Amino acid sequence: MKNKVLIVGSGGREHALGWSISQDKDVDEVIYAKGNAGTSLDDKCRNIDIDGTKKENFSELSDFVKNEKIDMVVVGPEQPLAHGIVDYFHNRYYDNVFGPKKDASIIETSKAYSFSLMRELEIHQADSTVCPNKIVAIETIKQLNKKNGIVIKADGLTGGKGVYVCDNKDEALLRLEEHAEKYSGSIIIAERLYGEEFSVFGISDGKRVIPLKISVQDHKRLLDNDKGPNTGGMGAYCPAPVANVKVVNSVAEDMMAPIVRKMEYDKEYRGFLYAAVIMTKNFWIIKKPKILEYNCRFGDPEAQPVVMMLNSIYRPIKSALEGKTENIKFDLKKGAACCVVMASNGYPFEYEKGYPIGGLEEVAKMKDVKVFHAGTILNEKGQVITAGGRVLGVTSYSENGIKDAVGKAYDAVHVIDNATSKINGKKVFVYRNDIARKAIERLK
Ligand code: AMP
Ligand code: GLY
Repeated sequence: MKNKVLIVGSGGREHALGWSISQDKDVDEVIYAKGNAGTSLDDKCRNIDIDGTKKENFSELSDFVKNEKIDMVVVGPEQPLAHGIVDYFHNRYYDNVFGPKKDASIIETSKAYSFSLMRELEIHQADSTVCPNKIVAIETIKQLNKKNGIVIKADGLTGGKGVYVCDNKDEALLRLEEHAEKYSGSIIIAERLYGEEFSVFGISDGKRVIPLKISVQDHKRLLDNDKGPNTGGMGAYCPAPVANVKVVNSVAEDMMAPIVRKMEYDKEYRGFLYAAVIMTKNFWIIKKPKILEYNCRFGDPEAQPVVMMLNSIYRPIKSALEGKTENIKFDLKKGAACCVVMASNGYPFEYEKGYPIGGLEEVAKMKDVKVFHAGTILNEKGQVITAGGRVLGVTSYSENGIKDAVGKAYDAVHVIDNATSKINGKKVFVYRNDIARKAIERLK
């Protein structure tokens, strides 16, 4: 009997998770619903024409899973989780679906909920107030005694866009108007924290959470030196020197495990758990990690470098689905990994698409380099074409550490960039040139 895994989603994270799962010798086939050009080209992999992230397709997808006798379903993005894809499958007597149920996804889908839970569990976070409406938010801002800036957050899922980081009260009051035009529901007013950000990921079976003992750093701004607009993430690397294994363990123990334990009886949190953390500075001396937010999924593009550090993520997921977290072992390699995102011109706003991509065959021959696709499709001639904002996550691993990994990733980026510009007679991609620079500078 063939062992088949289905991945829900089409982005770089889903390609990375599916590729990693396909590396296990016990996995015969990985199917993506609906994947991208890259996911259809990998060994053992294929796409189906069902967008599994859309609620209206859950029924068709669950029929497919039953008819094809799929052994395991892994859900990548937060939207289908928030729409209850896991509950839907359970209600149709299919339990091998990895991700939290709708109720438990609330850890990401409601910042008001996660803030209250953190407060109850005494988990370090920014001082904050959950305001039911704009009038209360205005009063809260006016009464705040924060010299160091104010952060305004929307309650629900906003694709990373619902957060306004303000320098002072006047700016906060101005941005609140803008915020209220775009978002409804509760508004969170928080103190602004300063420090380096990193992420920690774990896998939970509903009772315990097993962390990946490696910190990851994302690069959210579009341009070098953290300039330009916020994006979904322009690159990531691991391990991040800002948080060593000891810090990662303390985040897992003090900030992730209590959440899973608290949710065990009424919501049962089963799936990836993602803690976004900031290493705050206190008078520039004492550093203390504080939670910025939790997410109910893996990070994108953090998944891309993380999977390069592992043999395969298949067995840890399988053990969690079996409720046997004691069997979870992440075989982390030594060294470092890095992902550089190549995005379409115009991203994160209106962007151009439809350009053939060159250089992929040459890069496929490079050792320890893997190009994870996001916004790509195949045209009728079988060419890979740009079709989204974030197009490729050029990812590398080196046992010699971050400097070497970064060098490999950028060698591959330049091959793709030059070949694509040549085919199209113009520059097609934007990307950052300083992914992991903070880590490399620390080596000096
Ligand atoms: P979140 O969606 O809550 O992770 O926020 C998105 C981004 O906004 C974070 O990655 C931070 O860069 C920034 N941010 C959120 N909360 C704060 C805070 N309290 N202080 C400073 N920056 C913040
Ligand atoms: N890279 C940020 C996220 O996945 O939310």
